[in-house]
Amino acid sequence: MHRRKFLELWWTVPVTITFGIMGVLGYRAKKITFDKEIPGEPKFISKTAKRITKVDYFRNDYEIVDFIYEGIPSFIICLPERTKTSIKIGQKYYTAYSRVCTHHGCLVELIKDPEVIAFAYNYRNDRPMICCPCHYSVFDPVKDGRVALGQAIYPLPRIKIEVIGKFIYSSGIEKAPKLFAT
Ligand code: FES
Repeated sequence: MHRRKFLELWWTVPVTITFGIMGVLGYRAKKITFDKEIPGEPKFISKTAKRITKVDYFRNDYEIVDFIYEGIPSFIICLPERTKTSIKIGQKYYTAYSRVCTHHGCLVELIKDPEVIAFAYNYRNDRPMICCPCHYSVFDPVKDGRVALGQAIYPLPRIKIEVIGKFIYSSGIEKAPKLFAT
């Protein structure tokens, strides 16, 4: 009797597993496609100020300076337009981001050549973007680090910067999101 019952129902096991896997994949696809977070007003956690570089260091748009802040690899970038967290020095705007990708934590890098971005990341644009080599997420430096493409959902955490004397300092940082484990 038990054997017969088992033979009647055994097929439900692979079907249940298949639907479970499809559900997980569907949820993951929905998150990646529709639930990307738009960066809002910054929520900095104040930390000890740390000198990054001289205010007159930068010459051109999209130049960066790498630094470590509170143990987190970060960079400051010179931009042609303002962001929610940028400071203005002369005619240029400056914003700083964590380099830790919000997907699985690889280090992102600025790629200046749009053709390289189009070829390597399948994302066409007319300006430099912040890219993650691990799973090809692309973040937009002039849109507060929001995700333009890829598996990451959350924008890059922003670093608070300010001018003190002749130098730019970092003085606060946004909380990093929980890494999206997919
Ligand atoms: S760790 Fe950056 S896209 Fe996956």
